[in-house]
Order: sequence, then C-alpha cells, then structure tokens
Amino acid sequence: MSSNRRVFVIGGHTTPFIGKKHPDFVWKGHPDFGKRENPTLEDYITTAVNGALDATGVEAAAVEKAWIGNFVGELFSNQGHLGAAVVGAHPDLLYKPVMRVEGACASGGLAFASAVDAIRAGNDVTLVVGAEVQTTASARQGGDFLARASHYARQRSLDDFTFPALFGWRTKHYFAKFGITEEDIAYFAVKAYKNANRNPLAHMKNVKMDFETAAHAGDRNPTFLSNEEFHPFIKMSDCSQVSDGASAMIVVSEAGLKALGKTEADAIEVVALAHTTGNLYEDGDPTVLDTTKVAAERVYAEAGITAKDVQVAEVHDCFTITECLMYEALGFADAGHGAALAKEGRTDIDGDIPVNTGGGLVGFGHPVGATGVKQVLEVYRQMKGLCGDYQMPKQPSVGLTANMGGNDKTVVAAVYRNL
Ligand code: CAA
Repeated sequence: MSSNRRVFVIGGHTTPFIGKKHPDFVWKGHPDFGKRENPTLEDYITTAVNGALDATGVEAAAVEKAWIGNFVGELFSNQGHLGAAVVGAHPDLLYKPVMRVEGACASGGLAFASAVDAIRAGNDVTLVVGAEVQTTASARQGGDFLARASHYARQRSLDDFTFPALFGWRTKHYFAKFGITEEDIAYFAVKAYKNANRNPLAHMKNVKMDFETAAHAGDRNPTFLSNEEFHPFIKMSDCSQVSDGASAMIVVSEAGLKALGKTEADAIEVVALAHTTGNLYEDGDPTVLDTTKVAAERVYAEAGITAKDVQVAEVHDCFTITECLMYEALGFADAGHGAALAKEGRTDIDGDIPVNTGGGLVGFGHPVGATGVKQVLEVYRQMKGLCGDYQMPKQPSVGLTANMGGNDKTVVAAVYRNL
C-alpha cells in the first residue's frame, strides 16, 4: 500500500453482456428485428451507473470522483469524451470530476486503479464504470478496431483478426515447447461455457460446449484465420466474445464506509493493487505473460500472500491460451502445467482454486472496457454469496483479479479480502 488508508468495494451493477448467439441480441434473423434496437453505449453507461447507485444505496451526490474505462467508443459508437457521458447518467453527477481512461482491454482495470489511488490519496467515495459496445460492426471490421490495442503498424497485417492471430502465435509456441495439444487446451472452453450456462448475465448463457466440439476443428467450431502459420491454433471456441455491456461499482475509504452507513461486512477490502506496463513495440517470449508475471509478484508481495492463498480468481481469458498462461504467470501452475489445472477440474467452481466462475471472457463475454470492472464485482459477488446458480460451495476469503490490455502490455492485478 502506498498509504495506510484502506480501500473497499461495496458493490455495483453489471448489465447482461450480449451479442451474437445471445437470445436478446437483435440481428437480422431475430423475431424483434425492425421492432427494437440493441442498447447503445449511452444506454449501457446510464444503466450501469444507476444500477450501481441503486445496488449500494449510494446517492449520486455523495460521489466525489468517477472514472470510466472504455477502449474505442469513437470507432464502434462514434462517441468519445465519455467522462461527460457518465455525468449524463444522473443529474446529481453534474460538475463532478469524471474522466475516461484507456488501456485497451485493461481500460476497466485502469479505471479501478485510478479510484484506488484516489482513495489512498484522500478521497472517500468514488464511482468506477466500464463500458463497451462492439456489435455495431461485423466481427471482421471489429477485428480492425481491436487491432488498435496491438502495435498497429507492425502487427495489423498479421490477419484481419489481429488479436486471434497474436494469440495463435502464443498457442503455436506454447504447444511446441510443452507438447500440449488442442485437446489439453479444450478444457478451458468447456469450463467457460459450463460456468456461463449457470450465469443469467452471460453472453453464452444458452450455448453448450462439449469436449468433443471444443477439442477439434469442425463445422460447429471452425478455425478461421487467413494467416496460414497461426490458422490451426485458434478455433471459434478459443475466442472471447464480441459483446456489448457495462459494469459499475462504488469504491470507498474507511471514512466513506461510515459516512454511507455501511459496515465492513458490506464490503470487500482491496488489500493490494499492481499496475504494470510492457513495451508496445517489442514482444518477449510467446509462452510467458511477462507483464502479468511482474504484476503478480508485486501484488502478492504487497498483500503479503502467495498464489496458494488465493481462493477465487478472475483472470483475463481473451483466448483459451491466455487463461492457461495466466495460471502460470499468477503462480497457480508451473510453466507448461496450466492446462493440467483446468483438465483436473481444480479451477472449476467446486475446485480448490475456482477461476472465472461466471464464464470469463469466453463465456460471460468481453465488452472490452467493462471487463476489468466486471472482474472486481465478480469477486465481490462470490465473497458475498450473490452468485446464485454459480455460487462457490464456500464463500471465499481471499480473491484475485488480473485484467490485461493488448498482448500482455497493460496489466492491473489486485488482491481482495472478504470482511
Ligand atoms: N466455417 C468456416 N469459416 C467460418 C465459419 C464456418 N462455419 N463461420 C465463420 N467463419 C469464418 C469466416 O471467415 C468469417 O468471416 P467472414 O464472414 O467475414 O468471411 C469469420 O470466421 C468470422 O465469422 P463471423 O463473423 O460469423 O463470426 P462471429 O461473429 O461469430 O465471431 C469471432 C467469431 C471471429 C471468433 C469473434 O468472436 C472474435 O473476433 N472474437 C475475438 C474478439 C477479440 O479479439 N477481442 C479482443 C481480445 S484481445 C484482449 O482482450 C486484449 C486487448 O487489449 C484487445
């Protein structure tokens, strides 16, 4: 901790994450096509902000500062300047200091890190929002927009789907180095969809994924990259979803807790946070998430714990290989052994270290700017027993989040304690 001021999360609101294959998502074959539109970025921000205020009973007037994480509102929704969009969500936010922060898929994590800094520096009640709408473009066009999170000049030409190709690169090298197969890695997708099937907010809540489908490319689960070198290494089931959604939460100090009439039992404590940034212009060993590894080392040291103490984790699984590499960077498994952890069921909801209990980015969905905020709220919800059908058998006391932007370039990791 950089100051002795304690930091707490007291809850918030996550909207459903929706997109293709979600029953509420309107597309040209949907019975509601022409009758109603999908929610806009404005709708998502407004719903999440007011949902967080309602869920916590916090008056908008009590919020001292707010941040919104969003990656590319300008490209998908022709809308930037989203600090002012947060103010537009509630009249009592008018003239408060609100800013948008951007760090690709870690934008939400950066919004959270900003609030933690502010509480440590003297603020008492803050609001953190994350939002993204991505379904206004085709997946192929969206691939170009999302490629802005890579080093565009160097990496855009890898494939129309730049990020799936970048993680195809990691998968190829990881398989070769450790003798891992498509079947080994399939357990991540099976777990993600199985968890999402129990989560009413999940993008993939109605889509089933069995081991046979996840383990082999076929009509139901095609490979799709044009890049010949990486084509065999990424199937549809390996990818996070192109989702719309938002999440918002209230982050407070000890004085903030008291002023709001809350007790520690209403809160989880943020006991440590690490924010690390890699070099956009160079990539290291494809089989290691170096920036995440350093964040993990720092956050464990600050919290005074080891990986063995973590009882629930939300990790950035933008692709199945990412979850595997996250396990290794976070110290849950040794190098080359991440897939075995999933295969043995140890990261299932009833395993000894449950990971991404609501489905993760593959199953819950990945509205880029919302993800880092949603992850924190998921840990809060597991700790407070609010996860319904996907509640862990025993409410965890120590939790971890790891939100990653780009190809392991911006990472925000935090450790939480249930009070
Ligand atoms: N057989 C063969 N090929 C098929 C096919 C089939 N049955 N179905 C689809 N395809 C191919 C086609 O080439 C198709 O493209 P075209 O239609 O334009 O030719 C392509 O796959 C995509 O198909 P769809 O548009 O129908 O697929 P979709 O909408 O279901 O999307 C997906 C699937 C491409 C995997 C999409 O979900 C995706 O892009 N996911 C990844 C999203 C992503 O990269 N997010 C960012 C993660 S990285 C991160 O988190 C860090 C950061 O900072 C960015």
